[in-house]
Amino acid sequence: MHEYLRLGVNIDHVATVRNARGVGYPDPVRAALVAAATGADGITAHLREDRRHITDDDIARLMAELTIPLNLEMAATDEMLGIALAHRPHAACIVPEKREERTTEGGLDAAGMHNHLAPMVRELKGANIRVSLFVEPDPRQIEAALRLGVPVIELHTGAYAELTDEARAAELRRLQDAAALAVKNGIEVHAGHGLTLDNVAPIAAIPQVKELNIGHALIADAIFMGLGGAVTAMRAAMDAAR
Ligand code: PXP
Repeated sequence: MHEYLRLGVNIDHVATVRNARGVGYPDPVRAALVAAATGADGITAHLREDRRHITDDDIARLMAELTIPLNLEMAATDEMLGIALAHRPHAACIVPEKREERTTEGGLDAAGMHNHLAPMVRELKGANIRVSLFVEPDPRQIEAALRLGVPVIELHTGAYAELTDEARAAELRRLQDAAALAVKNGIEVHAGHGLTLDNVAPIAAIPQVKELNIGHALIADAIFMGLGGAVTAMRAAMDAAR
C-alpha cells in the first residue's frame, strides 16, 4: 500500500462552456465546490494570458470560497507573477503557453529558460507559494528543476495518454524513472494531462507520485455521470491502483 494520492480537479473547461455562451453559467466556482465535496483534494485553474476560459474574477472567487488548496497554473510572465503574488494561492504551477517555451514534447523548457525562471521561482517561494514546473519526464528537465530550487514538478503525461502499446509502455517507464529521479533529489512529484478513467491506473500506481491533476476527462464524464459522480469514480480508480 503506497501513500495517499491527492486528486487536483482542473475546472478550466467548466469556464470554457460558460464562455462559449458569454453568460454566467456553468460557474467554475460552483464546480470546484462540488468537486471538493466529492473527493477532490485541491482545485487547479489555469489563468491563461488570453483568458480563454478562467478569468481574473474566477481566481478571486476561488480564493475567497474554496476551503481546499488552489493550484494556479500560470505562464512565466510578469503579469501572471503579479497575479499570483496578489492572490497567494497554495501552489503555482508554471506551464508553457508559447511554442518557444516548450520542449520538443510539450512540457516547459526549464533547462532552456533557467535565467528567465530563476527570479520568478524565487519570488513565488518568497511569498510561500509552492512552486511547481510542468515538465517532460526527461532527466535534463529534472536537473534543471533541481538547479532552480523548485519543491515540486508536475510530470507531463500527455504523450503517455496519446500513445498505445509498446510506445505507451516505454513512455510509462520514462515517467517512472523521472519520478524516482526527482524524489531521490528531494523534489515532490505530481503528474497530469490527458488522464482518464481508462488510462489513470498505471500513473496512479507510480509510488513516488503524490498528486494527479485532471480536468478534461472529468468534465467530459460529468456530462454523463454528473460532476460528483465523475470525481468519485476517478478517486476510486486512483485508490484502487494504489
Ligand atoms: N496539468 C497541467 C499542468 C495542465 O496544464 C493541465 C491542463 O492542460 C492538466 C494537468 C489537466 O489536463 P487534462 O485537462 O488533459 O486532464
